[in-house]
Amino acid sequence: MQEARCMTKARRLGVLTPVLYAVDPVIHTLTFEFVEGPAVKDVFLDFGLNRVSKEQIDDIATKIGGSIGKLHDGGLIHGDLTTSNMLLRSDNNQLVLIDFGLSFTSSLPEDKAVDLYVLERALISMHSSCGNVMDQILAGYRKSSKQWSSTLNKLAQVRQRGRKRTMIG
Ligand SMILES: Nc1ncnc2c1ncn2[C@@H]1O[C@H](COP(=O)(O)OP(=O)(O)O)[C@@H](O)[C@H]1O
Ligand SMILES: [Mg+2]
Repeated sequence: MQEARCMTKARRLGVLTPVLYAVDPVIHTLTFEFVEGPAVKDVFLDFGLNRVSKEQIDDIATKIGGSIGKLHDGGLIHGDLTTSNMLLRSDNNQLVLIDFGLSFTSSLPEDKAVDLYVLERALISMHSSCGNVMDQILAGYRKSSKQWSSTLNKLAQVRQRGRKRTMIG
């Protein structure tokens, strides 16, 4: 129910998500529209195999930042931002966010910063060959979120904390 609620909220905020067809509270099942198209993960992994250009990567990254900015300004934290949970609809190239199973509502800069930090770590471990996608994502985020400055200040602190933890082991 929480996942269905958060997806509906995301939609209201102007972020594309699959259409929710049915909710079955008895067998705990959600039925969604099937989105035809690759996951951002697969597009990013294809970068360099000459099918995907740097311009395409940057365009996708800008869209990712734009969508997250809209979620965050509406007080919604995705909770599992990885490139597997982002699909690119083949017919119109639009970015569709999925997997709201860990989503929750919050307006705290800390929660927004951690949301972005999880994505940053995932990009570093999976997609380092794409260059600095995170910078482009944050550029898109700054354009779409009115509250970008408090979030990005917090993100700097969250990174510091992450680094200290790595140093201590
Ligand atoms: N609406 C959809 N249309 C097309 N593929 C989907 C859709 N929802 C999920 N998938 C595919 O199924 C995978 C798992 O779904 P997801 O909601 O992310 O669950 P999980 O919690 O297991 O990660 C996704 O990574 C994606 O490849
Ligand atoms: Mg998933």
